[in-house]
Amino acid sequence: MPRACQIKIDKNALINNLNIVNHYAPNSGIIAMVKANAYGNGLSIVASALEGKVSAFGVACLEEALMLKACGVASEIILFEGVFSQEEYQEVQAKKLTVVIHNHKQLNELLSMPLGKKQKISLKVDTGMHRLGFNPSEIMDIYHTVKSCKWVDESITVMTHFCCADELENPQTKEQMALFYKHLKGLNAPMSLANSAAIVAWPDAHADYVRPGIMLYGASPIATLDAFALGLKPVMNFYSDVIALRDISPNETVGYGSIWQAHRQTKIAVVACGYGDGYPRVIKDNTPVFINENFAPIVGRISMDMLTIDVTDLPGVQIGDKVELWGEHVAIDSVAKAANTTSYELMAKITARPQREVV
Ligand SMILES: Cc1ncc(COP(=O)(O)O)c(C=O)c1O
Repeated sequence: MPRACQIKIDKNALINNLNIVNHYAPNSGIIAMVKANAYGNGLSIVASALEGKVSAFGVACLEEALMLKACGVASEIILFEGVFSQEEYQEVQAKKLTVVIHNHKQLNELLSMPLGKKQKISLKVDTGMHRLGFNPSEIMDIYHTVKSCKWVDESITVMTHFCCADELENPQTKEQMALFYKHLKGLNAPMSLANSAAIVAWPDAHADYVRPGIMLYGASPIATLDAFALGLKPVMNFYSDVIALRDISPNETVGYGSIWQAHRQTKIAVVACGYGDGYPRVIKDNTPVFINENFAPIVGRISMDMLTIDVTDLPGVQIGDKVELWGEHVAIDSVAKAANTTSYELMAKITARPQREVV
């Protein structure tokens, strides 16, 4: 029997979450963001579940796009960081991929080398994130330049990305939108602005295409809103088993660094899951797991292969009992908060070690 640490990927939850995206943005096409191995959920599983149900898939780079192609994806695939060298156009053209053009180097490379086939591109405008994108004041000129280029496909989506859409009181999202719409006024081109947070909270940003990532995977895009309350269901369910039980006397300690000390006669269950599987090493004491229809607190340091929980108040726990680290009962957002990080990071940092099952 293999080690019990396991990720269950719930395809029905993924489809449920896609429906929630459709509910919030009923008039927009959907670009499903599947970069970084579909946020750790598994590219081929996610792509096969969403193929035919979304307008396009979003990845960071050519290598990820080729993986999607190898999964049999026929939908449009967009490279959100674009190409890193002119040579990549050979493969980009062969596989009919769409590239984002976000800086002058990419723009010059695109325009300076005639391409054999019409190349689909998307232009990125920097309205405040200040990572990728052209200045708003130059975007119209750039748009018309690429539009008149013989080897550029005439349907050019123009997009931007929000830096604070998850902060409902922050005026910056409205300012970014205003800047975007002001500089593109009168342009008859498809537009795309909204990530998950903007899909939920900023309907004026929905435009022609929305780009959900985290909400597709069932975590909340907004810290103050609960994923379950938004109707989202966890796609990634992280489980393992109890592999040992210990009786600990008052004043004895548990785990590396002896950071946790028993104050009463304590029953400790050892769970086969650690940071080598993707559970965060630094986590607040008493972060819950779910076992035998109850919550039990994590105590002591998370080690590479194991973590320890206090089951004193749950009589009957046995070796072999199933433990949910996050999923249906323990929201990944709550674990992320206890680890002082985000659900994005937790999902993306799941390692190759847990077994994977699709349900
Ligand atoms: C350009 C772009 N659009 C959309 C998304 C999706 O964001 P989220 O996962 O917050 O929905 C990302 C993710 O970082 C992104 O880089």
